[in-house]
Amino acid sequence: MRTLDSSTSLRIAIQKSGRLTDKTMNLLESIGLRFDDYKRNLLVRCRNFDVELLLIRDDDIPEYVQDGVCDLGFVGGNVTAEDQADVTILKGLDYGVCRLSIAAPKNGSLRKADDFSGKKVATSYPVLTKKYFDERGIDVELITLSGAVEIAPRLEVADAISDLVSSGNTLKANGLMEIDTIYESETELIRTNKPLSQGKQSLIEKLIQRIEGQQKAERSRYIMMNAPEEAVEEIRNIIPSLKSPTIVPLAEEGMVAVHTVVPISTFWQVMEKLKQAGASGIVMLPVESMIE
Ligand code: PRP
Ligand code: ZN
Repeated sequence: MRTLDSSTSLRIAIQKSGRLTDKTMNLLESIGLRFDDYKRNLLVRCRNFDVELLLIRDDDIPEYVQDGVCDLGFVGGNVTAEDQADVTILKGLDYGVCRLSIAAPKNGSLRKADDFSGKKVATSYPVLTKKYFDERGIDVELITLSGAVEIAPRLEVADAISDLVSSGNTLKANGLMEIDTIYESETELIRTNKPLSQGKQSLIEKLIQRIEGQQKAERSRYIMMNAPEEAVEEIRNIIPSLKSPTIVPLAEEGMVAVHTVVPISTFWQVMEKLKQAGASGIVMLPVESMIE
């Protein structure tokens, strides 16, 4: 099949300035991509990979990817869901985690979704918010605002809001109380559904492989410990390692060093057991990447 796109560079949309920008750049750099001066340009070429970045408003990213202006995008799931964009979600990336919630004045009478019936709700997310209330058969009047939604109740523009919550500080600072969650969001890697050249497809596969290696590494720790030789069998049973541990003899007779990789989620649990089994001098190190 002939492909329509003539350029071979993979074009990736990312948020120009906002809470995802630095985290996305850090992710791209942690998988080996190098860029110059992304703060000053809208289109930034990667120095060592056939990739260019387009820096735009996050709200525009799903559409740019849908239309094939960009091949990939890094954007909050909340934006893609609100836009109902025709794109493929390739991966959830566990940063930029937030939720779309309904909230109401702390000192008011709205305490549950049903209480919102007949009320004015200010939001920048009318699609997701309408769906939430429709599904519950609750009739509300939506006031769509593009920003500063949290002050709408104080200005008496609305009785309540539906807005993104991350730390919850914005709600608190505005005397608002979170009532219910409409949508849980994290950053996602999205891909256009337009046909792509073989070259671009294999670039995407490479990128995903690197991201997966990075994600896995982030959740893993390299651990080293000393142990008496006769404890090795028990230690091997304790360590939920993917591969068999590396065992190195030490200068001290009958002692060995054991090296292995463990998921961080089990590290502390495993460490207690290792100490009981006779391990000492346990050292934990971060892992940069893990390629199977
Ligand atoms: C969101 C939201 C709130 C704030 C909540 O805006 O609109 O203002 O973050 O965060 P908090 O719970 O940690 O206080 P954001 O800065 O993400 O901008 P955007 O939604 O307009 O892109
Ligand atoms: Zn935005």
